[in-house]
Amino acid sequence: MSKPIRKAILPVAGLGTRFLPATKAVPKEMLTVVDRPVVQHVVDEALAAGIEHIVFVTGRNKAVIEDHFDRQFELERTLEGRGKLKELEQLDRDTPQAGTTSFTRQQLPLGLGHAVWCARDIIGDEPFALLLPDMLHMGRNGKGCLANMVEAYAKTGGNVVSVYEVPDDQTHQYGIVGTGEKKAEGVHAITQMVEKPKPGTAPTNLAISGRYILQPAIFDLLAKQEAGAGGEIQLTDSMLKLQESEPFYAVTFDGAIYDCGSKIGFLMANVAYALSRPDIAPQFRAELQGVLAGN
Ligand code: G1P
Repeated sequence: MSKPIRKAILPVAGLGTRFLPATKAVPKEMLTVVDRPVVQHVVDEALAAGIEHIVFVTGRNKAVIEDHFDRQFELERTLEGRGKLKELEQLDRDTPQAGTTSFTRQQLPLGLGHAVWCARDIIGDEPFALLLPDMLHMGRNGKGCLANMVEAYAKTGGNVVSVYEVPDDQTHQYGIVGTGEKKAEGVHAITQMVEKPKPGTAPTNLAISGRYILQPAIFDLLAKQEAGAGGEIQLTDSMLKLQESEPFYAVTFDGAIYDCGSKIGFLMANVAYALSRPDIAPQFRAELQGVLAGN
């Protein structure tokens, strides 16, 4: 029996330079997709997969993320006083239970691998999930990406990453995997991994989409990992080393992925999530069609 996945890491220390000036004072993870911050959508996905504890790896100027997941006493009392019980219930549902979150700081921007390593003590000796908050995954079957991966992991054990097909001219922006034997519907053994291959050299166009289930042995490898692509400590490089002793599986994500670290991805996420919301979709669709028609 594989050990259950109870904890998840969300690295939220990035500077958001692709989104300046919006991200000068507001962390990029707090930008909203419809009426929820990007990071809350990702927390929703983690909780829907059965995650019990979330470790946020933050940085300077990110304190507002911690505040967002705390109670807001004054606001709650005011809503109560005004009889806005629906809003109050929603706030309550979105606030994690006491003791189910941890916040630790990545003191220097040394890369994703280093950010994950910063959470080693809080995770301890158990497998964990890792969700990169820039990437919003909207599942086609109504199930979250991580929930699907947890299901696959229950059958395969080992390490699991989510992958999706990207156009050939974008492979250099991602970790790319090569796959072999089919293990279950949409689940294949991983044979190759390379972080941000030079244009024209990628073995496939299957990109790592920012969702991982990893065994704790990764932490010792990260501790020794030297800087790789872009001068940063790359998670993919340590995953490659871990693959020498433990299997890796790819779960193909069935749905749409929006890279909210890019302007177009963020705008498209807002359109797609708004169109999926029964309370606003009819009016939004009509007004959007008006804009597209130049009215
Ligand atoms: C990271 C990972 C990469 C993955 C990508 C998904 O890169 O290193 O393997 O494909 O996230 O967003 P980053 O976007 O941090 O450069």
